Amino acid sequence: MPDFVVTIDGPAGAGKSTVARVLARQLGVAFMDTGAMYRALTLKALRQGVDLKDAQALTALAGMSVIDLVNEPGQQLKVLLDGEDVSEAIRSLDVTNNTFYAARTPEVRHIMVEWQRVLGARRSLVGDGRDLGTVVFPQAKYKFYLDADFDVRCQRRIDELKAKGQAVDEKALREDLAARDHRDMTRAVGPLRRADDALLIDSTHMNIDQVVEALYRRITGKQEADRSPAGRV
Ligand code: C5P
Repeated sequence: MPDFVVTIDGPAGAGKSTVARVLARQLGVAFMDTGAMYRALTLKALRQGVDLKDAQALTALAGMSVIDLVNEPGQQLKVLLDGEDVSEAIRSLDVTNNTFYAARTPEVRHIMVEWQRVLGARRSLVGDGRDLGTVVFPQAKYKFYLDADFDVRCQRRIDELKAKGQAVDEKALREDLAARDHRDMTRAVGPLRRADDALLIDSTHMNIDQVVEALYRRITGKQEADRSPAGRV
């Protein structure tokens, strides 16, 4: 297959990252978690005490930062911030709840989008985010919009955190997720929305394997079980 880009956009908790990671592995291509890039910048700003409301300062920080996504066969995606592995640190509640500042800043988005396009031009990849099908890769060959009912998305997040042994304030989690959805959908630049030519997948009643299977079949025209082992990384 010649180089191609697969975009998976959708709201938080729809399962995008997991689906994108597994699908990328099955297709033997890279996985690009664009949310991780906005998170990494937010982490740096929080650490350095940069005022997140100061668009100019945040943009300057983005211009001085090197955010890399390292795909290694058989390993989780590694997120490097100026060479430091921040894969875990960017998942903190503090980072999660403050990432909207970077995400709403147009100049920051511009820098991120340019970098994402560079990565996409280098090799085939599966990317997940909010604006990949609409802004970053409008010409992508395969576009998906992954959604699920709000209650189901909340429950998935709760289960995920509990599985990690973390205490969960369910009421706060629901409020945070609703606030994040609202901000992602209403910001002026790169808002979350389904591209007209993106296939909508409602995963409310599907598990991860079923979603991956549906996307894999759509892309390759083959059943997931038919794929040759040579197609794996
Ligand atoms: O995907 P994830 O939940 O890790 O993304 C964190 C935040 O980063 C999102 O809530 C959104 O505000 C922002 N984001 C974005 N554009 C993307 C990916 C993520 O604005 N392409």
